[in-house]
Amino acid sequence: MKTRLLIIVSLLGSMFASAQKQFFKPEKLIETGVYYYPEAWNPDQWDRDFAKMAEMGFEFTHMAEFAWAQLEPTEGNYDFKWIDKAVELAGKYNLKVIMCTPVATPPVWLTKKYPEVLVQLPNGQFAQHGTREHYSWSSPKYQELSRKMVEAMAKHFANNKNIWGWQIDNEPSHYGTLDYSPSAQASFRAWLKKKYTTIDALNTAWGTAFWSGIYSDFEQIELPNEGRLISGVASPTSMLDMKRFNADECAMFISLQCKILKDNVAKSQFVTTNFMNGHTDVDPWRNPDLDFISYTVYPVAGYTEGVGDQGFRLGDPWRISFANDFFRSLKGVTGVMELQPGQVNWGSYNPQPYPGAVRMWLWNAFAGGLDFICSYRFRQPAYGGEQFHYGMVGTDGVTPLNGGQQYSQFMSEIRELRKQYVANAVMPKEYAARKVAMVYNMDNVWETTIQPQTYQWDERTHITKYYNCLKLLTAPVEIVSESKDLSAYPFVMVAACQMVDKPLVDKWTKYAENGGNLIISVRTGLKDRNGHFPEAAWANSISNLIGGKIVMNDMLSKTKMAKVSFGGKEYSWNNWGDMLEPAAGTEVWASFADQFYAGKPTVIHRKLGKGTVTYIGTDTDDGKLEKDVLKRVYETAGVKTQELPEGVMVNWRDGFFIANNYSSSNVTLDIPATANIIFGTKEMTPAGVIVWK
Ligand code: GAL
Repeated sequence: MKTRLLIIVSLLGSMFASAQKQFFKPEKLIETGVYYYPEAWNPDQWDRDFAKMAEMGFEFTHMAEFAWAQLEPTEGNYDFKWIDKAVELAGKYNLKVIMCTPVATPPVWLTKKYPEVLVQLPNGQFAQHGTREHYSWSSPKYQELSRKMVEAMAKHFANNKNIWGWQIDNEPSHYGTLDYSPSAQASFRAWLKKKYTTIDALNTAWGTAFWSGIYSDFEQIELPNEGRLISGVASPTSMLDMKRFNADECAMFISLQCKILKDNVAKSQFVTTNFMNGHTDVDPWRNPDLDFISYTVYPVAGYTEGVGDQGFRLGDPWRISFANDFFRSLKGVTGVMELQPGQVNWGSYNPQPYPGAVRMWLWNAFAGGLDFICSYRFRQPAYGGEQFHYGMVGTDGVTPLNGGQQYSQFMSEIRELRKQYVANAVMPKEYAARKVAMVYNMDNVWETTIQPQTYQWDERTHITKYYNCLKLLTAPVEIVSESKDLSAYPFVMVAACQMVDKPLVDKWTKYAENGGNLIISVRTGLKDRNGHFPEAAWANSISNLIGGKIVMNDMLSKTKMAKVSFGGKEYSWNNWGDMLEPAAGTEVWASFADQFYAGKPTVIHRKLGKGTVTYIGTDTDDGKLEKDVLKRVYETAGVKTQELPEGVMVNWRDGFFIANNYSSSNVTLDIPATANIIFGTKEMTPAGVIVWK
């Protein structure tokens, strides 16, 4: 009986997987495309532009995400003639089309006639026409008008053979702005009523006994607005609920469009959206109704130092790999919808990427198992808010820019690689043995932002630091939700999961007892799901699991460094340090080397059932301590790691290993003598790539 059940479950699993894969042909490995804005260019140039796109090696194009004004010039009057022509011309050059719902940019007739659809900013002003994402998800009027627009488009293109799939909206978000419009306020109250049913339950969850915050009616509640708070934070739980609500509203607005598309278009057309990589006001995992989710990434725009003196031109080594592993996890399929084409315009300053960096990013995206890569955009804009932003071709509309040439090179390399594709390649054993699941829940990102406790705390930085450490040990990583079955992973990393409940801690305990190796970092298990401290000893929920008590924590300023000693070496830290009291049988791996708590343990390790639990109680800036502890965890479990130089990423997919060098120095990689190197050499320059089998 049990075996039959297992067979059914695994059959369902493979059906699910192939359902996601139906839009992509595995033997193509990856397909590459580019954004085009027919509405912005003289129609006489469209044929020339699509011809050039195809000549450069692109296999698909992408259009209409900002074209509502041209698609519905006056209310209820749709004009598809021009876009039909563009889709047809793309087809002439065998370019498939990703069609977009244009809801990110409502036309001015709409916002003038129905001003209630606009986002209300925290300062009380309403957003203005002229940019994008200025509409309120919560507005019933905007929902109605969007529904009509999307339905008209869906019906129009339902069976058009050139349409590959759909992108809903564009980077759904309000780019960091929260909406305080009357529609959002009303929707928030409805959301709260549904969640709490009674106002007493809300008062308890929000802890409103503090500072006389008690409500007697849901109608008294307003969205917390930091700009209007005189002292400190409002109830942290109310702010957390606001974040959850905001993400739910966004997901609702995506679902509304997803349903219309799925009800109308051919099954062969996929439905997705392009979330911003790293943006935290929305939650990409809240839309499992999409066929898959995709992401946008711009590694070099003046916001990172990267590795070494040219790192600002190369980007952070972990950024694309992390996005691959995060976005793939919802449906097992993903693609990058926008990958930087070259120099951009919106950073605090906009350096030229390092020569070859664009190609390296493309290979890094490929390495994550992605099915497609699309770039923003084909032509450099002549006018509008993004002048100076490179395209594949420059301001003359025809000459490939440096990034465009790198895309062409990548695409011709992929055509070569397709010849070597072998179906169903199995991940090499030594690499698979290091597989890690990293548990992720957006609640923890939001919650620790509301009360960071130190200005140095940034949850995403903490998580991606661990991610980078794991990648430096050449581990395959998957970012997983709390509900994911962990039994297939030899290692599980729980990084700063501050909010837990008993079933979650029980699940982690079972995982270790059954033979898994669990690694837990600071700030885990401190709070319940409402963000309250339980009435118990500090971090009591995980004490039994980690085999020790967390006595207290400390933190220093950015400029002051303290020391931890581990394995005969000293490491510097100042972000967060937990002092631990190990239980009998728990090993001490690292202790503080200075401050008034010198000698107190901060990294402990224990056996639990057939597995192990390691608690890492210090958070450093450079991640050196964390990496060395992780290495010891692997060694203790009898798993060999391959340590990479800082800045190097190695990933495996479909039978190929791909190495990328994000560091500013030349690096020689230790590749087995038996390996067949397809592109590159063992000596990698900065931005170098090696592909081998
Ligand atoms: C993306 C956005 C595009 C374009 C691009 C410029 O975030 O989705 O529409 O603005 O940035 O780099």
